[in-house]
Amino acid sequence: MKTVDALRDKENERTALIKDKTERIFSRLLEIRRHFHMYPEVSNEEFKTTDKINELLDQFHIPKLAVNTPTGTAAILHGKEAGAVVAIRADIDALPIQEETEWEYKSRIAGVSHACGHDVHTTVALGAAIVLKQMADQFPDGQLPGTVKFLFQPAEEADGGAESMIQQGLLENPRVNAVIGLHNYPDLPAGTIGIKDGFLMASVDEFQIIIKGVGGHAAIPEKTIDPIVIGSAVVQLLQTIASRAVSPKESAVVTIGQFHAGTANNVIPDTAFLEGTVRTSSREVRDRIERLLIQMVSNTVAGMGGEVEIEYKRLLPPVMNDSRVASILRKSAEKVVGTDNAVEAEPTMGGEDFSFFQLEAPGCYFWLGSGNEEKGAIYDWHHPKFMVDEEAIKTGVMMMVQAALDLIENGR
Ligand code: NI
Repeated sequence: MKTVDALRDKENERTALIKDKTERIFSRLLEIRRHFHMYPEVSNEEFKTTDKINELLDQFHIPKLAVNTPTGTAAILHGKEAGAVVAIRADIDALPIQEETEWEYKSRIAGVSHACGHDVHTTVALGAAIVLKQMADQFPDGQLPGTVKFLFQPAEEADGGAESMIQQGLLENPRVNAVIGLHNYPDLPAGTIGIKDGFLMASVDEFQIIIKGVGGHAAIPEKTIDPIVIGSAVVQLLQTIASRAVSPKESAVVTIGQFHAGTANNVIPDTAFLEGTVRTSSREVRDRIERLLIQMVSNTVAGMGGEVEIEYKRLLPPVMNDSRVASILRKSAEKVVGTDNAVEAEPTMGGEDFSFFQLEAPGCYFWLGSGNEEKGAIYDWHHPKFMVDEEAIKTGVMMMVQAALDLIENGR
């Protein structure tokens, strides 16, 4: 029992140290976050944001990694070579949304704001880098027991941000053993953390269908092939995919968002155009729906005498948390916020390109509680009045540091 107690004391001591170091830099982190918040930049235009991150990394003597993308940057804290390598990913972009808060540090850029709180994610990753750098001297040889990389990813709200970081080889040399990331979560109060094994966020795909029939007079349908009737059948049929082809234990959504055809009440048009989105809760369901959708639409249209062109675009894989990494992070969260505040994360059918990193290395994405009714932090992501309780930054930094060290100590 003695060794167990001693181990727990040592663990508690470390968590206390992380807390202390985070508290000490918290006022500086607030300045940093408020700067990012006042000067937001949209996807792929995060030039000043990138410069500012680089400037801060230099200021705190955190070595940068070479990144040859127009925006975005990365850093590394080298630890013991035999130790595991952990990557902490933060997205840095803002949105083309006019902020409508009365906050003193509201966006100074017209029509652009951090309405998804990526300024908080960036600040948390910087804070974690600073604290981990300071903690290195607590370890033998003044070196962390493993290596930690920090990926400041551009363009999460657009396409290609995560892939651009991966293509830069940032998960290689040394090879990353685990990748972690977080999103602020207004539905959970600040001071809480939500973790979930497996499915957390949906895959996102889109499709376009052009149905070609034969147009003609509305009163002589026998001489036409009506693409509107065929399109209507297609819409009905696609609704059976989620209800009949997917297990009730899984989640899937197939939505037609556009259906255009025709120009007049007495003319049957030649073509109909449909467009929609598919969201799923697993890689397998995603593959199955793509296959089924193409097969069902092709067969239905052919069966009704029409021709069809289908374009199916795979955009984002689902965020699927690795169970080993998630279970380590759950314990980290319990140390940082206590067992009552480390909760089961609620999954969403929204998408996140963090999922691309999870195809390369086992990873876990989690919710950082950021809600606070009194402070007006009650609005959803992308709302003009979106706010984050800044206390969440403290929790985020502590969690990232604790998680990185726990992952390293649990080995590769
Ligand atoms: Ni976001």
